[in-house]
Amino acid sequence: MVAAWHEAGDGIALVPTMGNLHKGHLNLISRAAERGERVVVSIFVNPTQFGPTEDFERYPRTMEVDMRKLNRAGVDLLFAPSVAEMYPRGLDQATAVIVPEISDDLCGIHRPGHFAGVTSVVCRLFNICSPDIAVFGMKDYQQLIVISRMVEDLHLPIRLIAGPTEREPSGLAMSSRNGGLSDDEQVTAAAIFRVLNWVGTTLQSGNHRYDELESEARAQLSAAGLEPDYVAVRNAADLSAPPDAPVRLAVLAAARLGGVRLIDNLIVDMPAD
Ligand code: PAF
Repeated sequence: MVAAWHEAGDGIALVPTMGNLHKGHLNLISRAAERGERVVVSIFVNPTQFGPTEDFERYPRTMEVDMRKLNRAGVDLLFAPSVAEMYPRGLDQATAVIVPEISDDLCGIHRPGHFAGVTSVVCRLFNICSPDIAVFGMKDYQQLIVISRMVEDLHLPIRLIAGPTEREPSGLAMSSRNGGLSDDEQVTAAAIFRVLNWVGTTLQSGNHRYDELESEARAQLSAAGLEPDYVAVRNAADLSAPPDAPVRLAVLAAARLGGVRLIDNLIVDMPAD
């Protein structure tokens, strides 16, 4: 089907997901539809990106409801493979695609092997679906940067598009994992975006003492009732340490609440001197 679309000259836009679709995913699908003649969505809860003690088994699987949403959104094709289709030799024998260094930083420190799992599956999805364009959410900012690096390094002929993070009225970033939070925890979790905004405003006011800001932000998250994994200020372009005269910074945070790990980030444009 995809080959026939290419033959007809249709641009194919892929939105890779793990299902349990929410408004954030549907917006990525709208972006895909604006840029490609054909929209393919993949739903695959990828075992290789979950650590042994993580929530792979508990990850919400809602295929029937997701299919109805995709129908309503006018998606041309759903690709929902089995684990055996994606990893025919089994998980232990599977060829891995690894982007060095950046995969072992930030979330990679707290989730060893996570990004190797992401790039290994996204590379397979790209090869199977052969999209011209692929759309990823900004909420997973490190994932976006890691995948961009993979696309560049492997000369994959795919243009990446980033879709903005959808938020609840409280500011909490929409995520399939929010369903694991109680109503009270959802209120507590909104502190992440408040703290990111505090860091952003402080940076824009000219405070560049990154270490102090990061540790104050972690303290604010703890005081709000979260267990921070990290808060980090980085160069938005590649997540390296911020340069002396930063133009655009990314403030990234990961924190745990009631067994759920939440991530979020804010892109901060620095005022010109
Ligand atoms: O962001 C996600 O949902 C997943 O990490 C992805 C990109 C679909 C790979 O499994």
